[in-house]
Amino acid sequence: MSLPDPALVVLVGASGSGKSTWAASRYRVAEVVSSDALRAVVGSGEHDLDASTDAFALLEQVVAARLGRRLTTVIDTLGTDATRRRAWRDAARAVGLPTVAVALDTPAGVCRSRNAARDRPVPARVLTSQLASVAATVDLLEAEGWQVVRVAPDHELIEPGGGVDAAAATPGQRSTSPVESTSLRGVVLQLSRFPAEGDLLAWLREMAAAAEEAGLAGLALMDHLIQIPQVGRAWDPIPEPWVTLGALAASTTRLQLGTLVTPVTFRAPGVTAKAAATLSALTGGRAFVGVGAGWWEREHAAYGLGFPSARARLDALEVGIETMKALWAPGTKPYAGQRVSLPETTSYPRPVGEIPVIVGGGGDRTLRIAARLGDGCNVPSDEVGLAKMVRYLALVGQAGRDPRSVHATVLDLPLVGRDRDDVWARVERHRGRAAAATFAARHHAGTATEHATRLAGLADLGVTTAFVAPVGLDGPDDVRALAPLATAFG
Ligand code: CTP
Ligand code: MG
Repeated sequence: MSLPDPALVVLVGASGSGKSTWAASRYRVAEVVSSDALRAVVGSGEHDLDASTDAFALLEQVVAARLGRRLTTVIDTLGTDATRRRAWRDAARAVGLPTVAVALDTPAGVCRSRNAARDRPVPARVLTSQLASVAATVDLLEAEGWQVVRVAPDHELIEPGGGVDAAAATPGQRSTSPVESTSLRGVVLQLSRFPAEGDLLAWLREMAAAAEEAGLAGLALMDHLIQIPQVGRAWDPIPEPWVTLGALAASTTRLQLGTLVTPVTFRAPGVTAKAAATLSALTGGRAFVGVGAGWWEREHAAYGLGFPSARARLDALEVGIETMKALWAPGTKPYAGQRVSLPETTSYPRPVGEIPVIVGGGGDRTLRIAARLGDGCNVPSDEVGLAKMVRYLALVGQAGRDPRSVHATVLDLPLVGRDRDDVWARVERHRGRAAAATFAARHHAGTATEHATRLAGLADLGVTTAFVAPVGLDGPDDVRALAPLATAFG
């Protein structure tokens, strides 16, 4: 079962129904605001009813502060106070958070026997009246506008990780996805930082081995001359990708290898065609080329490269794709195309099979170039990017090509943690000046299982490949942790 997150979650259940146990099994300690726990903070203990007024005043303050930051807030009280419940609901709505009511469907007898076993049981008649008001409350929840979730007493059902099983969900996607299986299909790890501390080759080998172990489809390298500010500092190492892919060719047996993306402004396209054909030959056909118009003026200036207008760079993108395709085509014939004429196309070694060209960038002309000349298109995995993907697939059809024959790829920047505590520790480590909730939402902060479910949803929309660049990816352990994502695309 997968609940919205972030969200306001209000628990409803009698004493002993298992509210606190359920909350502790799914949420971090700080996310759960419990009237009992706050009684123990301001009073003599969890059952110090004299401290109730103070405890609830604190509870309201904590709830308001957390909701104001759009942080998940789980309210652990009986849940039967309608006035409070509506105020919480309105506060969550005001910041656009989903409102979930979790009703503990624990039989009265179970609550009673658990209660009786406690050091300080609630008096039997109090429990009886709790059970009655919980039942009455549950009837009101839908009408109050809550998303109602019922939790059985058997907590097996709702342990973390017991959410939608991506592996089980994928066979359906496999049959409905518009894209036929291709070598690039699946999750491709995009390496954007290289915190190797010394031995770069050893680090790369370990990362590649971990990616193969995790069952990922491939490995992509950024092509930048200076580390980009979105990822790190200018003095962080960023190796030249085609040389590095050669090293990876020698260290891998299954992964697809390529760039995401090579700017056409860096190298003459014929030279990129040569490098990619060589990589294809070295790997037995595991090469792909991500290609784009280039965007970062600074790296061009620093390396003595021209940085023409956007229009000229997009012209160069067309020329580049046409040139590469011409050189990879069989034979050594002269080539006369739309923008490109070559007196001969002599290029050996020949690539093994086809080298997919994935065009990066979401401008409308870029999408049209991708649809007409490329084999795929790469856009961000956010809503705006996915809308562009839909447009790209339509353009492919308009260009008279089969949308099932192309790669619909997204760049995804997930924050992946081992469990909820680790996820939020990582959010704190990496959020910089961004608010925690904003940063977590932007990177879909969650466990690998949760990301697998999300990516399976993208597969349903027609996405064939996710280039995944996890936030703060440090070493092979972080790569191995991505194993649950490997089956998200079937
Ligand atoms: N419990 C259990 N199995 C579950 C859920 C709960 O054995 N699936 C036990 C807990 O270990 C605890 C008791 O049942 O000893 C009550 O669970 P708790 O989560 O504390 O219930 P609450 O609804 O939070 O009770 P209260 O309102 O008294 O806080
Ligand atoms: Mg409790």
